[in-house]
Amino acid sequence: MPNPWLPVPVKVEKVTVENDARDLKTFELSFVDESGRSGFAFAPGQFGFLSLSGVGEAPFGIASSPHEDRVWYTVKKAGVFTTALHEIEAGATIGMRGPYGNSYPLDLMKGKDVVIVSGGFSFTTLRSTIVHLLQPSVRKDYGKLTVIYGARSPGELLYKDELRSWEELPGVDLVVCVDRRRDADWPRQEGLVPNVLKSAAPAASNAVALVCGPPVMLRFTHPVLEELGFPPDRVFVSLENRMKCGIGKCGRCNVGEVYVCKDGPVFSYKRILELPSDL
Ligand SMILES: Cc1cc2nc3c(=O)[nH]c(=O)nc-3n(C[C@H](O)[C@H](O)[C@H](O)COP(=O)(O)OP(=O)(O)OC[C@H]3O[C@@H](n4cnc5c(N)ncnc54)[C@H](O)[C@@H]3O)c2cc1C
Ligand code: FES
Repeated sequence: MPNPWLPVPVKVEKVTVENDARDLKTFELSFVDESGRSGFAFAPGQFGFLSLSGVGEAPFGIASSPHEDRVWYTVKKAGVFTTALHEIEAGATIGMRGPYGNSYPLDLMKGKDVVIVSGGFSFTTLRSTIVHLLQPSVRKDYGKLTVIYGARSPGELLYKDELRSWEELPGVDLVVCVDRRRDADWPRQEGLVPNVLKSAAPAASNAVALVCGPPVMLRFTHPVLEELGFPPDRVFVSLENRMKCGIGKCGRCNVGEVYVCKDGPVFSYKRILELPSDL
């Protein structure tokens, strides 16, 4: 059995600066060895660890879909590891281990509308989900796709070109919003994600909601989803607790009996309500 801790070498094929503040970069990676690729079968919502020799490693949600050739991660410069990673250029070889954790509930979502609600750079694993659901071979299994995605300002939105192309697609309702418009030419909505969700009011009767964002956004989004009629077992949230091993061994990420790395990172809101309140 392969060592689940052992990183495989991956080549950085492309680095894209995503935002005006230049602290969010997307890394597109390819496998150096074909065996690395076969060992990295993932579903949207899972995460991996990236590593730099002599620096360390950190977990990141996988931003690409399983249909894409390259594995994408979008990383915010936060501290020691991510600052070193931001200095890496295309052509470099780094380490990657995973995939870990569970995924969004793709089977439960089948035949239903999907409502995606996200704020800030946590949008990464939801990009993976959207790209997956938009695959022609997959699209027919799911209903309407509503995406409500917000950032502080227009310059902080991720994947800007893709957002424009998704807008054109039938069966997709994309609502992009910013906290503060700043630019008079901003053609879309101004407002906080929970308020924009409330006014968009996607139908809840046959829908599943996937939510990812900073804690404050989650706190104000749940009551709105409840008001719209989404029961807690049809709302799924991805958590980003601190992690060390990623495979349920070190106890760094656990809350009560739950290991966020192994039992999550995706939990139904119903499950979250059952857990100790520090989650
Ligand atoms: C399952 C999972 C998925 C993640 N996905 C992404 C992603 O797609 N993109 C991304 O940019 N980041 C993601 N993160 C967070 C990322 O792992 C941390 O930003 C990273 O570990 C910071 O490492 P560092 O050495 O640069 O920072 P450190 O020097 O360790 O810390 C710098 C700052 O970041 C804070 N920090 C560290 N870890 C976390 C965390 N888990 N949550 C919140 N704050 C943290 C510290 O408190 C400190 O303020 C994810 C975390 C988890 C657990
Ligand atoms: S990160 Fe080690 S147990 Fe979850």
